[in-house]
Amino acid sequence: MTFHTLNELIADGVRGRYVLVRSDLNVPLDGSTVTDDGRIKASLPVLAKLTDAGARVLVTAHLGRPKGAPEEKYSLKPAAARLAELAGFKVSLAGDTVGESAKELSAALQDGEALVLENVRFDARETSKADAERGAFADELVALTGGNGAFVDDAFGAVHRKHASVYDVATRLPSYQGDLVRTEVEVLRKLTTDTQRPYVVVLGGSKVSDKLAVIDNLLGKADTILVGGGMLFTFLAAAGHKVAASLLEEDQIPVVQDYLKRAADAGTEFVVPTDVVVAGKFAADAEHETVAADAIESSSFGPQGIGLDIGPVSAAAFAERIKGAKTVFWNGPMGVFEFAAFAAGTRAIAQALTETDAFTVVGGGDSAAAVRTLGFADDRFGHISTGGGASLEYLEGKELPGLSVLDR
Ligand code: 3PG
Repeated sequence: MTFHTLNELIADGVRGRYVLVRSDLNVPLDGSTVTDDGRIKASLPVLAKLTDAGARVLVTAHLGRPKGAPEEKYSLKPAAARLAELAGFKVSLAGDTVGESAKELSAALQDGEALVLENVRFDARETSKADAERGAFADELVALTGGNGAFVDDAFGAVHRKHASVYDVATRLPSYQGDLVRTEVEVLRKLTTDTQRPYVVVLGGSKVSDKLAVIDNLLGKADTILVGGGMLFTFLAAAGHKVAASLLEEDQIPVVQDYLKRAADAGTEFVVPTDVVVAGKFAADAEHETVAADAIESSSFGPQGIGLDIGPVSAAAFAERIKGAKTVFWNGPMGVFEFAAFAAGTRAIAQALTETDAFTVVGGGDSAAAVRTLGFADDRFGHISTGGGASLEYLEGKELPGLSVLDR
């Protein structure tokens, strides 16, 4: 695929021109406080490049998954306020997406200023399966750009969504790939072609069902897959172990068994924890103890025990594998890192990633938030992807509508 680049757009001249930019400002919030502004910071350079060049920038973005109508808790207000704090140009926020406020404020926008439109998902047409509905919404977004607009897709985290603000606007305006999308794709390509071996993949997160397609695709490509997070219990169950009250997707057991069987032939080794931290309840202050992974039910909590982190022996074994790797991709925390008592596994992986000479990619909103919450600086990793589902779907080899629509 080849794309028109942001530099081409700027070289064409953007002063006084409306440029619609799709950014990924889907950041975690605690009330109205942005708890991880990584995606906002990652979105800034493209917006700055355009405003510096004199464009009138209209930013579209989503936050969370509202049900097609405005809901205060999904407002882009906190994200836009943080963007305004960080930006060296004027940033305002419209009170709606394509309504009176958006029309009025975009008409008043000056060269070198940015206007963030309210959450595109406040309009049900954004995510509609019907092309005509999405198209009608895209037409209204495009209308805000006057007769000479352009579109820049810089929302890597949303390129796997065939949504109006990602896909349909690109069929209606001259369209360009933003620098963030370009960088992300270049990095992820290194994980799929000419990958330096050993290639170690660390997979965590709660559900194995979210990771099936990527696991399938990694069999034969990755040398080692280290399994942590809630999904590890389905792997333990697939090996015949009891997991007490830990997270278990029973219907996925046969699928995991099939992977374990195929992995050996494909030359991929799954490494499943040998010890886990088991708690009496799901709470930050829960009593807990470390037990062998095949003896979870024998913990002092019996069948009520819940595995909330990988154990120290497993964390050390995982760290060893990471240190010996040439390429590492990590998606998903190893445990409930939000609770200090169950963050050690995730911290050990993050630490190992900062100490290896391998090319390291941290993918997924949760893993990115985890490393920052645990106090690791971004520049200690090869690359922290802004994409969660998008980076996984890229690795799955799926067609990403937000990329293919930009192919010229
Ligand atoms: C993400 O958080 O991965 C992106 O912002 C996409 O969000 P979505 O999964 O709600 O489409």
